Amino acid sequence: MSIAKKNAAIAALEMVEDGMVLGLGSGSTAEIFVELLGEQVRQGMKVTGVPTSAQTAKCAKEHNVPLVDPDKVDRIHLTIDGADEIDENFQMIKGGGACLLREKIIADISEHVVIIVDASKMVEALGGFPLPVEVEPFAMGLTVERIYDALAQAGIKNVETVLRPIKRGKKPLVTDGGNYIIDCACKKISDPMLLSGLLNSIPGVMEHGLFINLADTIIIGEKDHAKVMEIVRE
Ligand code: A5P
Repeated sequence: MSIAKKNAAIAALEMVEDGMVLGLGSGSTAEIFVELLGEQVRQGMKVTGVPTSAQTAKCAKEHNVPLVDPDKVDRIHLTIDGADEIDENFQMIKGGGACLLREKIIADISEHVVIIVDASKMVEALGGFPLPVEVEPFAMGLTVERIYDALAQAGIKNVETVLRPIKRGKKPLVTDGGNYIIDCACKKISDPMLLSGLLNSIPGVMEHGLFINLADTIIIGEKDHAKVMEIVRE
């Protein structure tokens, strides 16, 4: 287990209060958090979690964190999730674990979103990490053409795209929502907000990995401590 990721998760755990409904993110850092949360639950903390993926639900069950259906709660107090890239304006790329759709639904309705990462995730500009775009399999070729158009309109040309395969094999990966992922090697996304809007307007795009204005707190884990940064929005 990465000590930097663990230190970020420990700092996030300090923000959890008894009685909270928590959005549980996906990925290795979020799972470290779930594991630590499980220890608190064993010691008597009363929380419930809304998992953002089948994998996180499995991890939460293994660590005895009680889960609840998102439709059965009237609020999510706090969501803790990881990220693949975060830029200087705290905009993010997520979806390296293919859970972007549920992650964004939960982040969007959460009262507070805490992102836990190690320092390698902080970048000057987004795009070095291939941008995941979740697409409906029906007429995927047409949707991909429109994704290229959107990228070009955002000033991103000659993009290599890959239909993401399953981890060990050649078949396309199918997300928890039954969709495919197109990874777009943008290299540099100069205007993430513009590209986000353009991708949102394509009917076959179910979601994309640009998380705009969704992070409230970013915790960067280091070897021996964690740095907490609060986002100030006007
Ligand atoms: C899952 O789809 C992603 O959004 C993850 O949050 C992201 O890939 C970070 O994962 P790690 O914590 O494993 O780096």
